[in-house]
Amino acid sequence: MKKNIVLIGFMGTGKTTIAKMLSKFLNMPMVDTDEQIELDFDMSIKDIFAKYGEKTFRDMETSTVEKLSAVGGQIISTGGGVVLRDGNIGILKENGIVVCLKASSDTILNRIGHNNDRPLLQSKDRLERIKELLAQREQAYSRADFSVITDDKSKNEIVKEIVSLLESTTARSDL
Ligand code: S3P
Repeated sequence: MKKNIVLIGFMGTGKTTIAKMLSKFLNMPMVDTDEQIELDFDMSIKDIFAKYGEKTFRDMETSTVEKLSAVGGQIISTGGGVVLRDGNIGILKENGIVVCLKASSDTILNRIGHNNDRPLLQSKDRLERIKELLAQREQAYSRADFSVITDDKSKNEIVKEIVSLLESTTARSDL
């Protein structure tokens, strides 16, 4: 089976945008765990958190990861908290190459600080909240096969960097 290319990383690191570009560039279909959850449950992520809480959302996220990972040859964009359950990364890596997109807390604040759709960022001091969550998750993000820093890079540069990382790995032959 062809491997998936999986993008992980904190909110606002550009996973969805870059996944769409990779999908075009590599001519591979793209799926997004958050989008799939919203479709399957016919509710926005924000409403799922408000109505059922984070634990239920994480359960949905894990079953979505299982479902999407089982299909090969896709670009999979994930929600920023997918790394919170150790098992999710294991599942994604079984059949995929996992790339983590990174950005500083200041860049993240600039990109998504004004956005109210992310339940975990609803805080008076958003920069502090971003820093706190980044620190909690740093270790988990480092389980990716590759990391790409996105601050001060154009989208095209990021895509090119990912493609050359993928080409440089022997796993390229599985793509
Ligand atoms: C979350 C990130 C969000 C979404 C949910 C929880 C997180 O996805 O899954 O709000 O825990 O970091 P994005 O990374 O696409 O914003």
